[in-house]
Amino acid sequence: MSRKFSWILLSAFLGFPMFAAYTQTAKPVDAEGRQWWQHAVFYEIYPRSFKDSNKDGVGDLNGIASKLDYLKDLGVDAIWITPCFPSPQVDFGYDVSDYENVDPMYGTLADFDNLAREARKRNIHIILDFVVNHTSDQHKWFLDSKSSRTSEHRDWYIWRDGKGPGQPPNNWTSTFGGSAWKFDPTTNQYYYHYFYPEQPDLNWRNPAVKDAMFDVTRWWYKRGVSGFRLDAVDTLFEDPNLTDNPIRLGVNAYGDAKQVEKYNKKLPEVHEALRGLRKVADEYNAVLIGETWTENIDELNLYYGHGNNELQLPMDFLFTTVNDLSPAKFRKEIAAIDSAAGWPTFVISNHDIVRSYDRYGDGEHNDQIAKLMAGLYLTLRGTPIIYYGEEIGMKTMPPTRKEDVKDPIGRKGWPREKGRDGQRTPMQWDGSENAGFSEATPWLPVPPTAKIHNVAAEAKDPDSVFAFYKQVLKLRHTNKALMDGTYAALNGNDQNVLSYLRVFKDQVVLVALNMSGAQQKVSFDLSKHGFLSAKSLVATGNSSANGKVVTLDPYGVFIGQLSK
Ligand code: NOJ
Repeated sequence: MSRKFSWILLSAFLGFPMFAAYTQTAKPVDAEGRQWWQHAVFYEIYPRSFKDSNKDGVGDLNGIASKLDYLKDLGVDAIWITPCFPSPQVDFGYDVSDYENVDPMYGTLADFDNLAREARKRNIHIILDFVVNHTSDQHKWFLDSKSSRTSEHRDWYIWRDGKGPGQPPNNWTSTFGGSAWKFDPTTNQYYYHYFYPEQPDLNWRNPAVKDAMFDVTRWWYKRGVSGFRLDAVDTLFEDPNLTDNPIRLGVNAYGDAKQVEKYNKKLPEVHEALRGLRKVADEYNAVLIGETWTENIDELNLYYGHGNNELQLPMDFLFTTVNDLSPAKFRKEIAAIDSAAGWPTFVISNHDIVRSYDRYGDGEHNDQIAKLMAGLYLTLRGTPIIYYGEEIGMKTMPPTRKEDVKDPIGRKGWPREKGRDGQRTPMQWDGSENAGFSEATPWLPVPPTAKIHNVAAEAKDPDSVFAFYKQVLKLRHTNKALMDGTYAALNGNDQNVLSYLRVFKDQVVLVALNMSGAQQKVSFDLSKHGFLSAKSLVATGNSSANGKVVTLDPYGVFIGQLSK
């Protein structure tokens, strides 16, 4: 028996996580040289809102475990769980007080190990959310840091004297409102926090911080995690001279003067830290996804690193900034990302932004439009990340009264900024009172649309958003052109229909997406590509092809295989 195999058997017998072996042996480069994460479909889970197993109105790890079969059946290969570590929950987990444990609200480490084991049985990878920029103010590192100017962890955070009595060290503002500096009377200095005051920024210039953070990733890789989504990487470093940021015209939702975040964001040192995290990730064949808010593709390219030595999957949020159904705008954005230095990543929703269902929906054809958007980002060259509930057409439901708001930025910025509760409501499993999410009152209310948009109802309806997601995901797991093919835009001047080919050797798939509310007939010059007609693989409603002419329903989707 090989040593590795006997270790796996022994660890399974002892009930310990032996998953490091899983990640290390899983170096699957296919014939095209692809890594597992290039063919995988990712799915973001906001654990508070996915499934509650212990009846406290908040989702948990055992809840997620109970839905693995659902995820597998949907066509999910990897789940990214937003922070589930111990936390005072000021920013719902993005304020971590211990990186190497699970918050009791979500379960225990044993529950995590069980989830990892069950996920592995189904070939589902687990990605955790690593909050690299800051900890909670309750983390033991910060408690020690603030205790005295000479404490062991003092330099793990960013402490400075004020400019004068009551005057912070410079003009930087927190993205969550107010000064980014908080005065601490224990040592008469200010500490820096880009987010809430309860989220002090770590000092990544201190090598001890880097090492400690790298070790955190090792700790989880050894427990079976296949990678991390790195939170807020843009904000890891600040100008050590604390130069004031230039001021822009206008004020934000919190009443602060707007500024150009020139000296506290996207500093070049970020890349050195990312290279370090990547080096560790490579030891475990893990993947790093980045929360990378970039202005253009040149900036995005920086996050792939030279020779791809930083993030494998920096998220392209530029795609989410196209907020209308404009073929021209999408064409431009897709061409840009398709020319990027690394493998593209697509998201259309997440826990911080209004759901795609509402951003693109016109209030009347939202289900068709939800399918249209799925037909788009699930057929592009790259890795898609689905946001939980998107597959059933979940709606954003922002609070209507300030007193109901849970997200502190909504309480602070009301009414201009209503916070992010609306996109974090409980997953809608069925049509019962709490949508099958919990037997107790959920931490956020369930939108009334849950009566119609829920897994149980949509599973029975072949025409549902859910049924369409399943069809497209099934196709993208089996069709070589969709998995590995190149992207080629078609009919570049069409104002209504976005269309393209995905080409893999002699296998070619045509995708045509009607972004208008009227029926469209489109003719494609297929002979130029050596083909005569298209045969439907997946289509919505009556959308179909006749030779080289595709007829599309309003907001219709046609995905077809070309034949000679
Ligand atoms: C980005 C996360 O997505 C967001 O939810 C969080 O509030 C901030 N980073 C701070 O960690």
